[in-house]
Amino acid sequence: MFEDTITDIIKKAREGLGLSLRTLADQTGIPVSEIQKIEEGKTPPKEKLLDALGLSPFKFDSVRKNAFMPAKIPEIIKKNLRLKTLEISTGGIVSNAYILIHEHYALLVDSVGASENDVHFLSNEGFEPLFLLITHGHFDHIGGIERVQASYPNIRIIHGGKDVPCDTRYETDGFSIDAIRTPGHTEDSVSYFVNDAIAFVGDTIFARSIGRPNYSLESLLKNIREKIFILNDSVILAPGHGPLTTVGEEKKYNPFF
Ligand SMILES: [Fe+2]
Repeated sequence: MFEDTITDIIKKAREGLGLSLRTLADQTGIPVSEIQKIEEGKTPPKEKLLDALGLSPFKFDSVRKNAFMPAKIPEIIKKNLRLKTLEISTGGIVSNAYILIHEHYALLVDSVGASENDVHFLSNEGFEPLFLLITHGHFDHIGGIERVQASYPNIRIIHGGKDVPCDTRYETDGFSIDAIRTPGHTEDSVSYFVNDAIAFVGDTIFARSIGRPNYSLESLLKNIREKIFILNDSVILAPGHGPLTTVGEEKKYNPFF
C-alpha cells in the first residue's frame, strides 16, 4: 500500500544520518546482528534504536501496524479542479505522473509524456497543457519531455531547480503555482503548490516516509517542516511514488517527524 516498508524507513534514516551498522550498534548498545535482523524485518525495532534514528516510536508503530491508512482522495479535488494520477513504469521503477485539469486547461507533472496514451488523452479531450512541471531530474521523473514538447510546442517547461533558483510564483489561466525549492532527495528538488489545494512534491515526501536523502537528510527534513508542513492540513500531497496523502496526515503519522 505505502511506497516504503518499515525496513525501508529504518534504512533511509540510518543511511541519511551517515551511520554504519557498527556506529549505530556502539551508540545504542544493540548488537550489529540484531540491527541487521531489524533491517531485514525479522525483529521489531527497540525504542532506543528508533530514538537514535530520529524516528517517532508512536508513528513508526502505527505504520508497522497499518493503523492509519491514507484517506481516499476523489478525482475532483476541488471545484473545477480534477486530478488524474498516472502510474508510469520506467526501467522497472513505477513512478507517479499527474495531470491537473481546470476547465480546458491542464498542468502536467513529471513523466506524463512517457506514455503515448496519456498524451493522446490530452488531445482527444481537447485539453490545452500550459505547463510541464518537473519535480527533479531523476530518470523516472523526466520521461517523455520531448514527446510533450513535440505535441505542445508552446508549453512552458519548468525543470526543477535548474529553472527555479529561488521560490517563485507562476500565474496562468486558472492556475496559480508556487514553485518551492525543497532540496534533500536531490539538490534540484522542487515542490509545486497549486491553487491552494495540492502540492506536487516529487520524491521529497511520501505517504508515511520520505524520498531517499541522496543530497542531505537534514535539508530534506528542514524543508518539509518549514515549507510543506506550514501549508493547510487539508492540502493534498501528490508524491512521486506511492499513494496520495495530505499535510495533516503526514504531520500526524509520518515517523520522520
Ligand atoms: Fe527521485
